[in-house]
Amino acid sequence: MDNLDRFGRRITYLRISVTDRCNFRCIYCMPPGGVPWRPHAEILRYEEIVRLVRAAATLGIRKVRLTGGEPLVRKGLPDLVRELSRIPGIEEVVMTTNGALLSEHAEALARAGLSRVNVSLDTLRPERFREITRLGRLKDVWEGIRAAREVGLVPIKLNAVILRGVNEDEVAELAALARQGFSVRFIEWMPLGSVGEDFRRRFVPGGEIRARVEERLGPLVPLRREGPARVFALPGGGEVGFITAISAPFCSSCNRMRVTADGKLRPCLLSPVELDLKGALRAGASQGELVRLLAEGIKRKPFSHGATEAVPHDREMSEIGG
Ligand code: 5AD
Ligand code: SF4
Repeated sequence: MDNLDRFGRRITYLRISVTDRCNFRCIYCMPPGGVPWRPHAEILRYEEIVRLVRAAATLGIRKVRLTGGEPLVRKGLPDLVRELSRIPGIEEVVMTTNGALLSEHAEALARAGLSRVNVSLDTLRPERFREITRLGRLKDVWEGIRAAREVGLVPIKLNAVILRGVNEDEVAELAALARQGFSVRFIEWMPLGSVGEDFRRRFVPGGEIRARVEERLGPLVPLRREGPARVFALPGGGEVGFITAISAPFCSSCNRMRVTADGKLRPCLLSPVELDLKGALRAGASQGELVRLLAEGIKRKPFSHGATEAVPHDREMSEIGG
């Protein structure tokens, strides 16, 4: 058993959603009324996550990302980070957050062994920020970003989802943050969950985002491929990346699997295939059995999700963890 899949991809990266709850209701992620939260009993306990990551590490997983919902709405997250960062074989524990609670927790997270954070930031305008997140305050997020920088959770990546008629006019301003030492990532909106007909109207392809950046800030110079992102040098300093899951899928370089908040192993974000890790854990599975389940997930990882035609609508992004 190892971490090599049927298509020669090495799976070294596990994204774990620690909660489906969130203190925001971003328009591209959740319907206006939010989604019903799962009861606590359905969510993996920290001890269960630790057991899974121990098993994953023996298979060759080297990097763990904690996601949500919003990971920081779950109590005691630094305790989980501390446990995970001590597991032999795990080289990096990182987190994706909306930043709202980051100023409060940055120091404890850094002390617990977190390496870095990615923060979602789709606009620089306070009113627009409220419209996009429905509940968030831009000021809180900037305080969080500042705190993360001060305690060394760097380099900080800023993730921006671009939507037509919402923030496509801000692409150059967002890209320019790269000159202040942030890594900026533009993410094509993925039509998950209940977005429905909105998609055709709101989708902005990565090529258009790039053209908007170049028009205002000058030609981008290709640097490298980094996981799903194509990364470019920005004239004047810094780097920006594009994650084009829809217009140019990156399945051939995919190195990740996901664990949903309710304990399902999801080998591919956009395929509905899931393996029931929580069921196994609670039925008393041994570490060896967990390793076998994870290995089966790797073997069942599909090659192409075919997102341009038919995307499964079986779950919201907040449940799968972005
Ligand atoms: N499409 C693309 N990105 C999304 N995110 C959340 N929902 C979507 C979606 N439907 C992003 C968030 C966050 C990351 C975890 O996923 O902005 O940066
Ligand atoms: Fe919350 Fe992230 Fe979804 Fe926004 S995108 S509602 S911050 S989980």
